[in-house]
Amino acid sequence: MRVILAPMDGVLDGCMRDILTRSGAFDLCMTEFLRVTAQINPLKVFRRICPEMDKGWRTPSGTPVVLQILGSIPGAMAANAEIAVKLGAPGIDINFGCPSKSVTRKGCGAILLKEPRRIHDIVKAVRGVVPVGVSLSAKMRLGYDNTDLALENAAAIEEAGADFITVHARTRADAYSVPASWEWLARINEVSSIPIVANGDISSVEDYNRCISISGCKDVMIGRGAVSSPGLAGEIKASLAGLRPEKLAWDEIHAMITAMAEVRKGSYDDGHIGTRVKLWLVYLKKEYSEAGLCFQQVCRINEYSAMSPLPL
Ligand SMILES: Cc1cc2nc3c(=O)[nH]c(=O)nc-3n(C[C@H](O)[C@H](O)[C@H](O)COP(=O)(O)O)c2cc1C
Repeated sequence: MRVILAPMDGVLDGCMRDILTRSGAFDLCMTEFLRVTAQINPLKVFRRICPEMDKGWRTPSGTPVVLQILGSIPGAMAANAEIAVKLGAPGIDINFGCPSKSVTRKGCGAILLKEPRRIHDIVKAVRGVVPVGVSLSAKMRLGYDNTDLALENAAAIEEAGADFITVHARTRADAYSVPASWEWLARINEVSSIPIVANGDISSVEDYNRCISISGCKDVMIGRGAVSSPGLAGEIKASLAGLRPEKLAWDEIHAMITAMAEVRKGSYDDGHIGTRVKLWLVYLKKEYSEAGLCFQQVCRINEYSAMSPLPL
C-alpha cells in the first residue's frame, strides 16, 4: 500500500519534496531525472538533483529519496548508478517515459519503449551495480506511438532484474490528452511477478480507490495530484486506516507555500523563489479557488520579497 511521490522535472525539487513529505504520508519519493550521457556526472550535479544525498538520502522529515536517472548507454547508466549507490542511495529508478523532444531526440526517455532489448540491456547493466537491498526500479509509459510493446517492455524490465516498475498508463503519443488507462495497468500487473506501481490521473481518494480496484496494483505514484492537492497522500492514508479523509484547508496550504519559500532562502535568489511560488499557485488553482485569487494578485510580480506576505 505504498504511496510514492512522483518525479516531476522543474516542479518537485528538493525544497518541494521537503514540504510535501512533512505530512509523513509518502512512503518514498523520487528525484527529478539525472541526465546521463557518456560520462560520469560530477558530484555537484548529483547534489543539485538530490540535495538530500548529504542527509542520508532522506527528506528532512525522513522520507527516503530514490535517484532517477535518464540515458541510453548501459555502461554510462551503470557507472552513474554505481556512484549513487556508493554515496548511499536507497534506490535507483530508470526513466523510460520522458516524452520531451529534447530527450527523445537523443534516444533517451520514452523513445526507448520502441526497443525492449535496449531497455533490458540498460536495466541489466544498472542491476549489475545496484546490490540487493538497494531498490532498482524503472518508470515506463505504455509505449511510444501505441501500446503494442507494453507487455514486452515490462517483461524486459522484470527479466533484467528490477524490483518494481512504475507504469504511467499512457503512451508518449497520448501526452496528457486522454485519461490514463488503468485497465492497461491490470493487464501488465497480471503477467508480472514484481510489483507494478500504478501512475496517472490519481487526484482524489475516489480516484485512488478506483485505480486500485481496476488495476489490481497495491502501490501508487502521484504527481500532479500531489502538487495541486498537497494533502492527498494523507487523505489516502487516512481512508486506508478507516478514518474520514479531510482535505487541507486553504490556510494550511498558504502556510506550506510560505514554508516552501522560506526553505529556498539562502540557496536561491528572490526572483527564482517568486517564480516557484507562482508555479505552485498555478497547480493549486485546480483544487483551491483561493490559490487562483492569490495568483491574480502576484502574477505580475517577479521577486518573492515583493509578494510576501502572500495574500490569503
Ligand atoms: C512537469 C512534469 C515533469 C515531470 N517530470 C518527470 C520526471 O522527471 N521523471 C519522470 O519519470 N516523470 C516525470 N513526469 C511524469 C510524472 O512523474 C507522472 O508520471 C505523470 O505526471 C502522470 O502522473 P500524475 O497524473 O499523477 O501526474 C513529469 C510530469 C510533469 C507534469
